[in-house]
Amino acid sequence: MYRTHTCGELRLTQKGTEVTLAGWVQTVRKLGTAITFVDLRDRYGITQLLMGEDLSKQLDENPLGREFVLQATGVVNERSNKNSNIPTGEIEITVTSFKILNKSAVPPFTIQDDTDGGDDLRMKYRFLDLRRNAVKKNLELRYAVNRAARNYLHQNNFMDIETPFLIKSTPEGARDFVVPSRMNPGQFYALPQSPQTFKQLLMVSGYDRYYQIVKCFRDEDLRADRQPEFTQIDCEMAFVEQEDILNMFEGMIKSIFKDVKGIDYTETVQRMTWEDAMWNYGNDKPDIRFDMKVLNLKKPSTVYTDKQDKAALINGADFKVFDEAETVVAIAVPGCSEYSRKQTDELTEWVKRPQIGMKGLVFIKVNADGTYKSSVDKFYSEQKLKAIADAANAKAGDLVLILAGAEERTRKAISDLRMEMATRLGLRKDTEFKLLWVLDFPLFEYDEEGNRWVARHHPFTSPKPAQIETMINNNPVIDNAAEYLKHPYANIKANAYDMVLNGNEIGGGSIRIFQRELQEKMFAALGMNEEEQLHKFGFLLGAFEYGAPPHGGIAFGFDRLCAILGGSESIRDFIAFPKNNSGRDVMLDAPATIDEKQFDELQIKLNLK
Ligand code: AMO
Repeated sequence: MYRTHTCGELRLTQKGTEVTLAGWVQTVRKLGTAITFVDLRDRYGITQLLMGEDLSKQLDENPLGREFVLQATGVVNERSNKNSNIPTGEIEITVTSFKILNKSAVPPFTIQDDTDGGDDLRMKYRFLDLRRNAVKKNLELRYAVNRAARNYLHQNNFMDIETPFLIKSTPEGARDFVVPSRMNPGQFYALPQSPQTFKQLLMVSGYDRYYQIVKCFRDEDLRADRQPEFTQIDCEMAFVEQEDILNMFEGMIKSIFKDVKGIDYTETVQRMTWEDAMWNYGNDKPDIRFDMKVLNLKKPSTVYTDKQDKAALINGADFKVFDEAETVVAIAVPGCSEYSRKQTDELTEWVKRPQIGMKGLVFIKVNADGTYKSSVDKFYSEQKLKAIADAANAKAGDLVLILAGAEERTRKAISDLRMEMATRLGLRKDTEFKLLWVLDFPLFEYDEEGNRWVARHHPFTSPKPAQIETMINNNPVIDNAAEYLKHPYANIKANAYDMVLNGNEIGGGSIRIFQRELQEKMFAALGMNEEEQLHKFGFLLGAFEYGAPPHGGIAFGFDRLCAILGGSESIRDFIAFPKNNSGRDVMLDAPATIDEKQFDELQIKLNLK
């Protein structure tokens, strides 16, 4: 037996007990010649060891280094100099004997909460980084979320069923990672972007409640909240409507909040249509921890046809920027009317950055004394400025920010600006959690390059029941690209839903198509001819002929959920062995070339361009 206790569990109540601990040397401090203190660390905590004169002498001959693996036997004693910062801070072990179990090279960075190691170095030596408390806490949280999800799903009769990794392509919008087959030369497996078609087949097989905490693989551009391999809590249910799914899975998230964070999320989860989200927040995953809604001063005539803009407030002033823009939008930022010239200039530069891409920024200051000051004073009377500010819900002391430009870019820009201002004002607290369902997404998106429809979610998503006829009875071909918004398909809404937490999409799913005819129509709408449909999805179309039940499901981004619950936007911190932003594992140095012999076996010849 290497140890009787861990380095985190001994307290004063065990005073006088003989114990053996094993762990890593965090620090060694010599006090004169007679005493040496060693902080010994393991997964559970840190315990102070006290080595007397004889042992200190041994250490002089054979010094301990940082991260040496040490076994020490001794007696638990009360510390004279207590440390209230750690749970074991009242005791120390007066060591009677010790053994160095293994030496360690000098670690490339200090293994402490505030490490001196940069990102790359820590990734290269991830096995050392994982010893740090900060990283360990994240992995503990991840495991707690995993347990909470499993408990909830198990209690609700869901069954964990594994699905294969070596499959044929699943269309989830990204590129596939492919794996060559040695036994079938010239043929390739694809790694699943998600188990989508398998979980649907399981519904056909009668496993009416399925789940899996499962790896998914997508070859896409990476960001802080995206990894090439990531984990989903993937779920599917049979005999359900949208409402059943929403209830079941807000239950799961609430249960995770309770088990992991001790939070009773008793309020009703808000719901918003996709169109309202875009209109009021410029974004389909709005952060609703704060208000700052978008005022639509001008919209293009073709989109959001049911919504009324406030163009009357800006028209007729001869202000070219607004007159010539497709879209003009504004937000009222609370308490910022006293921004200096330097500050408004800096904000203007911020919106002009290429990532935001605006040409400029117009502001109206709603001064505390009821006067208005604006960068467009020349064009708008104080009365008009007041009318705009009022429409934006600005109060005395607020700063109204206005952006004008092309629809898509401007809407995204106002959303980015809204988030930026909220961050600057401290309105995005990582201890506050706000859930939101976004519903009624468009079923199709228009692909300009191919002048055709693409599935917004994926091709298995059902249209709203009332719009199935529209889909079946209309020809998907777009005759006039400029007028694609007038095509009946542009207005078809999906029976799909996203769950948003604090401005992050943590999950998405849909009620599925389960009739062969409708599924074929969907594939056709996406430009797949019959042969292609059979080649790619013959198995699914076939399965729909053998008693497919109505079904639907959802998948949660497990890494994202953990990161947000842990107060971070970077999912990497919550993955034991993540990839860097170029998709590399810097510890393994992967991807890498393979041996000639492997190429030969696969009958593959490289032809790099
Ligand atoms: P979707 O593609 O929306 O749906 O993915 C579900 C959730 O997975 C997370 N996610 C990611 N997390 C980290 N890195 C990535 N590269 C990444 N991509 C997605 C997001 C997202 O909400 N099969 C469908 C689900 C269904 O219809 O049931 C699907 O995969 O949090």
